[in-house]
Amino acid sequence: MPDGDIERRWWKESVVYQVYPRSFNDTDGDGVGDIPGIVEKVDYLDDLGVDVVWLNPVYDSPNADNGYDIADYRSIMDEFGTMADWEELLDELHSRDIKLIMDLVVNHTSDEHEWFVDSRAGDPEYEDFYIWRDGRDADEVSWSATEGPAGEAPPNAWKSYFGGPAWAYDEEREAWYLHLFDVKQPDLNWENPRVRDEVFEMMEWWFDKGIDGFRMDVINLISKPEGLPNDPDDPFCGAMTGPTNGPRVHEFLAEMNERVLDREYLTVGEMLGPEIPMEHARRYLDPDEDGLSMLFHFEHMLLDRGDNIWERDEWALSDLKAVFNRWDDGLKTEGWNSLYLNNHDQPRMVSRFGNDGEYRRESAKLLGTLLHTLRGTPYIYQGEELGMTNYPFESLDDFRDVDTLRPLENAIEAGEVDSFDAVKEAVRANSRDNARTPVQWSAGPNAGFTDGEPWLGVNPNKGEVNVETERADEDSVWHYYRDLISLRKEYDVVVYGEYDPLFPDDDTVWAYTRTLSTTDGDERLLVALNFSDDDVAVGLPDDVTSDEGALLIGNYPADGDPDVVSELAAGDLRLRPWEARVYDLR
Ligand code: GLC
Repeated sequence: MPDGDIERRWWKESVVYQVYPRSFNDTDGDGVGDIPGIVEKVDYLDDLGVDVVWLNPVYDSPNADNGYDIADYRSIMDEFGTMADWEELLDELHSRDIKLIMDLVVNHTSDEHEWFVDSRAGDPEYEDFYIWRDGRDADEVSWSATEGPAGEAPPNAWKSYFGGPAWAYDEEREAWYLHLFDVKQPDLNWENPRVRDEVFEMMEWWFDKGIDGFRMDVINLISKPEGLPNDPDDPFCGAMTGPTNGPRVHEFLAEMNERVLDREYLTVGEMLGPEIPMEHARRYLDPDEDGLSMLFHFEHMLLDRGDNIWERDEWALSDLKAVFNRWDDGLKTEGWNSLYLNNHDQPRMVSRFGNDGEYRRESAKLLGTLLHTLRGTPYIYQGEELGMTNYPFESLDDFRDVDTLRPLENAIEAGEVDSFDAVKEAVRANSRDNARTPVQWSAGPNAGFTDGEPWLGVNPNKGEVNVETERADEDSVWHYYRDLISLRKEYDVVVYGEYDPLFPDDDTVWAYTRTLSTTDGDERLLVALNFSDDDVAVGLPDDVTSDEGALLIGNYPADGDPDVVSELAAGDLRLRPWEARVYDLR
């Protein structure tokens, strides 16, 4: 057994499965997934072996941003079902020992939330619930907006994450309000203690209903810099670098921690920005400060993203490793990492970091091996366990996402981009809609997702990639994921072992050991991953070879050539394309 100095937590030992309800499973034929559809698949999740479900927003919403624009935090969106359906889902999950975490979206609400309706009407109780400012004289400043009274410019030059100015003029209140996302997502004013009271009460209300935690949407944006500074070179201006980790963010979260959080909950804060300074990260995760269990940073998600949806950068394996190595090191003694390579805002990982053609299966398994054997809590995004891929978008009509359409349409209108066709490859690779196509349950019509017309196209590869086929085949990505998940339950070293990277600068092979000192001696694993379409030889340092080692899991058939155990003894691995091996070094 491990030494007593390990801080055991159920959420460290868990695997989280993310459900994006709109695209999961539709039971009423309207082409949109729903909560009864998730209830229908609880046994599926149980068979896979996951411990926690993170549910993307299911609250009442006009859907300007697929539920991230909430009109009522205490009711369920009609399209998704009723509160009774939600309660049934919670019961069904809990009766199988699966926990449920909800999405907490409190940087902003919908403009249809009653707080905003009252705020724009100038109701004294709500007037300061949002961030309202007067406009500037357009002749005196260098920025402008297409909307608003003649001669007036927005209060500052901030840009929305979804493109265009971050301010909208409201005719009724005759003032501008801040929206870091869509115009229908006004930012809440966290400086107002009544806003905090309302948010904390609402969280308490959900905890009382029995949930096990929250994923907190863009939570490092809640504190805006004092005076809303406006230097266009300031990092607070411009998309992807909005007002992150603002001056009072830790104070607000510490208050939340004190008033509503508990170490028994799983809380994971989404942290926007090109880089989260480690001092901030530690404060977010310190039980005596902000008290979150984990955070999602974006450093690995930005490696290949250009500044705009129509731009791409090259990524190198050594850069990807450097991000994970920095985070493992930064949180070695305090804090805990989350591990993800895709979610509802990111393209499919096998298309992005793997090879979704010839080696789709191998590379999906390899990436899964990485996520399940690094130190941290793995997050599986729906369909990842099938090796689902990006979608072959052909025209703008194929997209639904505001974050793809709005910036691109603006750029085409402004003449910055000629046409969709001119930037098709990059937009295809970047769009959030890649993740949002319906889960492929079968090879049948609409992949078994709906009897109606799906709200977003079904991937044409459903014949090959679907739950039925995957479950019927013992060598599938699905079965491999199930094995990876159970490995975590069997070996403490997978959860708690120290991570030591080998060959950090190598751009083809990612290899590392995991070591846990126990009273019965060391438990030690070696993980070796070939991120390429070619065979590769790996010469191991002397201290990671073993005469008695065994292969715990690998993504090539175990039988025959090459002899993976004697290769380990010789310290000379020959990895095939996208091969992943996890050895127990004993
Ligand atoms: C987060 C969500 C994303 C949403 C945005 C605004 O990044 O994951 O889907 O659009 O916040 O709420």
